[in-house]
Amino acid sequence: MDSMQLGYTLPMSWHENKRIVVGVSGGIAAYKSPTLVRRLVQRGCQVRVVMSRAATEFITPLTMQAVSGHPVHQHLLAAEAEAGMGHIELARWAEQIIIAPATANCLANLAQGRSDDLLSAVVLASAAEVVVAPAMNQQMWQHPATQRNLTALADNGVRVLAPMAGAQACGETGPGRMLEPEDIATLLVGAAPPRLLAGVAALITAGPTWEALDPVRGLTNRSSGKMGYAMAMAARDFGAQVTLISGPVSLETPRRVKRIDVSSARQMLEAVSAYASQSQWFIAVAAVADYRPATVAAHKIKKPAATAAAAKASQRMSLELVKNPDILAAVASLRKAPFSIGFAAETEHTLANARQKLMNKGVDMIAANYVGERAAKATDSGAHVFGGDENAVTLLYKSERGGRAEPAIQQVALAKTDKYQLAVQIIEHGAPLFARKAKAVKSAAK
Ligand SMILES: Cc1cc2nc3c(=O)[nH]c(=O)nc-3n(C[C@H](O)[C@H](O)[C@H](O)COP(=O)(O)O)c2cc1C
Repeated sequence: MDSMQLGYTLPMSWHENKRIVVGVSGGIAAYKSPTLVRRLVQRGCQVRVVMSRAATEFITPLTMQAVSGHPVHQHLLAAEAEAGMGHIELARWAEQIIIAPATANCLANLAQGRSDDLLSAVVLASAAEVVVAPAMNQQMWQHPATQRNLTALADNGVRVLAPMAGAQACGETGPGRMLEPEDIATLLVGAAPPRLLAGVAALITAGPTWEALDPVRGLTNRSSGKMGYAMAMAARDFGAQVTLISGPVSLETPRRVKRIDVSSARQMLEAVSAYASQSQWFIAVAAVADYRPATVAAHKIKKPAATAAAAKASQRMSLELVKNPDILAAVASLRKAPFSIGFAAETEHTLANARQKLMNKGVDMIAANYVGERAAKATDSGAHVFGGDENAVTLLYKSERGGRAEPAIQQVALAKTDKYQLAVQIIEHGAPLFARKAKAVKSAAK
């Protein structure tokens, strides 16, 4: 499923998020620039702001810093600024430059290829796509000089988001009103995802666990954490506040996600327990070890000394294992259990095992994940599901039809796709079930 089919664009968080420089020049419409930055950040973009000197007379750099999460770039000839992310670095960093509002003066500067302030210098030094959203008095807009500048800019490959006509801040009526921030953001990077999880605290586990045998050895599994991290990013992009409890993985922490690192299953349970009661969603993607060594040696376990008898005895070694806690079942059985989704990674009887998990653990949805060798062969790259960027799952959940004793089980197969897009679909399927459950809990409490 791509974003066209989704009807909205979710940032491909799995890959790099779009890097956008927002330039603000000195027009009255600068009061809309913070909203534009927020709309871009909501769509997963990374934003850096450049302000002209005149722009800072209309809104403060502090406001722009707060909404973008980064210091604002203002001065071209400042040694301190150049020592940080200088104008050339900023120009290289940008994948897209949007100037909103773009004043008549700014358009003139760009059309002439000037570079006597930071904004024009960054534009001139960048290979990024440049987009301008002009805003000005209607006479200024219609003036032949402005129109000539716009033609020159279009000839240079600059995209002009033509202003709307209507009532203006100066009291006149006509063309020159800047497009609304939501529309500019949509034109730049696509429509925003619906806020399906607005106000929801989502707790997500990811990665493998590590069950120590001694200080240097342990039992673990092939989980890379990619599916769990993709779930965290998708939940975030749908508006949730995400806490990610992660086993040992080599993945970057997704932006705007709170990550807590753990190692063993028991540590994971402890971290999950601390957050479960304040969470409305729980998505258990981590591949948690069912068993752990009964004892953990304080020092590295050594081979026996090399006597003949010891050598014979050391051909075999037994490990005693004890059962680990079942984190998903523990959360799903809480009195005020969050809406819970469990992943069932299986190499055989995938659906039968998933059905059993759904019925026995009291979870709301299971994502059955075949991870055997056939799955490896089925991926384009030949990569294993563990560690690969693609996956396919079958969702199982109890349907509204069917009685309490034997509820009908709904089964939905989600085709192989990028793990992030798969996470998006899982949340889209879960959201109505979550709403149904919340409604049922509410009416039961009455
Ligand atoms: C109250 C006020 C509002 C202004 N609004 C606009 C405007 O909407 N568009 C515009 O092109 N210029 C506007 N100007 C003029 C610019 O601020 C002026 O041309 C300035 O030099 C622009 O500098 P910059 O392009 O470097 O930001 C306004 C000036 C004032 C005093």
